[in-house]
Amino acid sequence: MSNKIMPTYFNQLPVFFERGKGAWLWDLQNNQYLDGLAGIAVCGLGHAHPAVTQTITEQAAKLLHTSNTYYIAHQIELAEKLTTISEMEQAYFCNSGAEANEAAIKLARLYARKKAIAEPIIVTMHHSFHGRSMATLSASGTPRIQQGFEPLVKDFIYVNMNDIAELNEVTNKYGDRIVAVMLEPIQGDGGIQIADAEYLQHIRKLCDQHDWLMILDEVQTGMGRTGKWFCYQHSNIHPDVMTVAKALGNGVPIGACLARGKACNLFGPGKHGSTFGGNPFVCAVGITVIDSMIKEDILANATRMGNYLVEKLKSTLSKYAGVVTIRGRGLMIGIELDKPCMEVVAIGMKHRILFNVTFNKVIRLLPPLIINESEADEIANRIDKSLAEFYAIKAA
Ligand SMILES: Cc1ncc(COP(=O)(O)O)c(C=O)c1O
Repeated sequence: MSNKIMPTYFNQLPVFFERGKGAWLWDLQNNQYLDGLAGIAVCGLGHAHPAVTQTITEQAAKLLHTSNTYYIAHQIELAEKLTTISEMEQAYFCNSGAEANEAAIKLARLYARKKAIAEPIIVTMHHSFHGRSMATLSASGTPRIQQGFEPLVKDFIYVNMNDIAELNEVTNKYGDRIVAVMLEPIQGDGGIQIADAEYLQHIRKLCDQHDWLMILDEVQTGMGRTGKWFCYQHSNIHPDVMTVAKALGNGVPIGACLARGKACNLFGPGKHGSTFGGNPFVCAVGITVIDSMIKEDILANATRMGNYLVEKLKSTLSKYAGVVTIRGRGLMIGIELDKPCMEVVAIGMKHRILFNVTFNKVIRLLPPLIINESEADEIANRIDKSLAEFYAIKAA
């Protein structure tokens, strides 16, 4: 389609969505689709959630923006709620996941200054994704998103997730220069790869022993996606820095970088900031999102429906030899196929189901956290139809 938009997104699908309700979307021709992606883990409470809509309309009628030159009551209240559910201590508000991670990287650099490390190294993971700004794409162990943007921000070292021996080697080699280890507890764009509890605990131990910061990117895994407020809460550890965005605003752009213990108070006046970050509008919505999630017992639903959907997918898709594994936690689910399957996304659209493909051959499901059993059945059913068509084309 010809238009004046810079073509940064590949494989854009020729559909215009006009409205949504819960887990459902309608296009301009009034075709109804089941949303198995929630805007890539954003609309956890589903579309047109009544409480979110009410807050948006009421707050828009009252006050959108002032600036961080002045105290912002909604920001203070949201920081209180967010630090409570995340078990962190301080919040810095921004507008996206990349910005939240950019703030986390800046915190690590400041921590290095404090420790008089002149050339600090941050250890990150191969196949990770932390955003598209220069520092966050440099942090991401994914050459595909770095190509063309060299020189990268320097001194990120990439290791293979869940490989404790490799981490120990890097510690021996660069220990004095390392200041932080940064990772996603489940790699989303990396193909729904789960960090083992043992691996996270080992990183925690190293960070304590060597006085490094443990930075968790919970931009995709946070806000109930895996059945806990934050994915790290499955693993009996605590990060020093944690980032959140996506579902915190249910579609309104907001992100936050959270700190705890030794990572607190590294940002002093003038060290960081954002015009829009944490304005009254987005923070009012963030407060409503957290309150609604508590009121509607969303974490329990994400756990229950996640288990239900994985079982359903396993039984429904067992007939396909090409389905290698189905894995996930809560409602963050990957179906790994034996071959590249980017085209299955468009096939899914014909069957009126939204999902995407990461890592070339992993169907990624991130449905709204409010789905019920019949919607989960319908997701499995429509994926079954999509795979039947995909494998028939591949076989032909
Ligand atoms: C784990 C993770 N970190 C960071 C980002 C970047 O977030 P944003 O697109 O809001 O900048 C994403 C986005 O997909 C993500 O999944």
